[in-house]
Amino acid sequence: MGSGPALSVVGLGKLGACSAACFAAKGFQVTGVDINRDFVDAINRGEAPVREPRLQEMINLSQGRLRATRDYEEAMRVSDITFLIVPTPSRTDGHFSDKYLKDALTHLAGALGKLDKEYHIFVITSTVSPGTTEKTLIPLIESVSGRKLNRDFGVSYNPEFIALGSVITDFLNPDMVLIGGSDPSVCETLEGIYSVVCENRPRMAKMSIISAEVTKISLNSFVTMKISFANTLANICRRMPGADIDHITAALGADKRISPHYLKGGLSFGGPCFPRDNRAFAAFAREHGVEARLAMATDEINRTQTDLLVDMIMGHVPEADGSVVGVLGLAYKPNTPVIEESAAIRLIEGLLEKNLEVIAYDPIATDTARAHFGDRILYASSARDCFQSATVCVLTTPCEEFKAIDGSYIAHNPTTIVDCWRLLDGAKFGEGINYLALGRYNNGK
Ligand SMILES: NC(=O)c1ccc[n+]([C@@H]2O[C@H](COP(=O)([O-])OP(=O)(O)OC[C@H]3O[C@@H](n4cnc5c(N)ncnc54)[C@H](O)[C@@H]3O)[C@@H](O)[C@H]2O)c1
Repeated sequence: MGSGPALSVVGLGKLGACSAACFAAKGFQVTGVDINRDFVDAINRGEAPVREPRLQEMINLSQGRLRATRDYEEAMRVSDITFLIVPTPSRTDGHFSDKYLKDALTHLAGALGKLDKEYHIFVITSTVSPGTTEKTLIPLIESVSGRKLNRDFGVSYNPEFIALGSVITDFLNPDMVLIGGSDPSVCETLEGIYSVVCENRPRMAKMSIISAEVTKISLNSFVTMKISFANTLANICRRMPGADIDHITAALGADKRISPHYLKGGLSFGGPCFPRDNRAFAAFAREHGVEARLAMATDEINRTQTDLLVDMIMGHVPEADGSVVGVLGLAYKPNTPVIEESAAIRLIEGLLEKNLEVIAYDPIATDTARAHFGDRILYASSARDCFQSATVCVLTTPCEEFKAIDGSYIAHNPTTIVDCWRLLDGAKFGEGINYLALGRYNNGK
């Protein structure tokens, strides 16, 4: 432990803090850099700057090998390799903005120009539109530092395939490590690092930078296509007596050409990566004269999935105006406070447009939702509380806590439960409970 190249990680947010802590926990000396003083101070106190399962455990395991600074030059001086994990928000044209990457690289390349270093590797981990690294970032490093690619510095594109809520576990056990390199030695250096860090023996997918950039957004675009396919199947099952989406997807997923992951049938995908990566895939294809029709249809299906749910709910509210609908689950998936592009947020907007009132609950995302909706909706302190106020309750995430919902929660007769992920056993509810499972026939309702 403690040997190998020294690393720096620029951007200590949801992904960067976890990457830095994992590298340090696995024995690398790591210097984190962020413009956010609170995040830097948290790391230096040995505390997690963001909320993510197992992050604190990794920081504790790093035993003094992890520290942070706001000084780029210091990070360049003490490290051999710098990972850039700063935001790349989507632009209106669907492409990713490279503004934060350019900001950070301008400082880092300036430091490289000043320091008496023989060689340094820059690793772009942020998601970028294909072509960005070679067209924009490498020329920027060369012009600011006055140094030459593959002689004085190397560049890698090395994105992660992690999901919020399981970032650490995903980071330590990836199916594949994607490594694009400006030359083969850069790929080998990164492979050496990941062979120490990964707890499984993942495939090391080494390739050119542009191939790695295309792979990254193609992978997410393909996964979203699978989700939209399963959601379409769920919509068909709703109209077919006797059809059950879970039986169908379990059988489809057993075929190794398909695989069972992300093939569930339920609500739309959301979060900070899937929707925008898919739209970026279409934008990138268009730029090269190709209409990525599958990606565009996936996006369209994803948007309409929530509209269908609004229509379904409208069929069950007692009065057209002013009825209260309980929305249980606000984040884009369980165990995260992130509500970005979540199905629940889109659903609530749709219900408000229909002049319904909404009372919402999520075990950990209520505060983020409050910041978004303010007093346009009501907030419940528990799932039980939602059922007290609403006669129609919708379960929008497969949250463990919701599985406890039973007859004792019901305060109104009749109550409609819309179970988007089929968490509950509808047969257990007695008279007066109208239990509707998305993806099953519900007597045509
Ligand atoms: N969060 C995810 O699930 C996920 C998954 C895969 C890929 N990614 C990609 O990783 C990148 C980072 O995402 P995130 O979710 O960690 O973002 P984030 O917003 O949680 O964190 C980014 C951090 O970068 C810091 N920062 C911004 N500009 C900086 C600069 N010039 N110098 C130093 N620090 C700077 C911010 O203060 C912040 O702490 C994005 O490109 C994203 O697309 C994220």
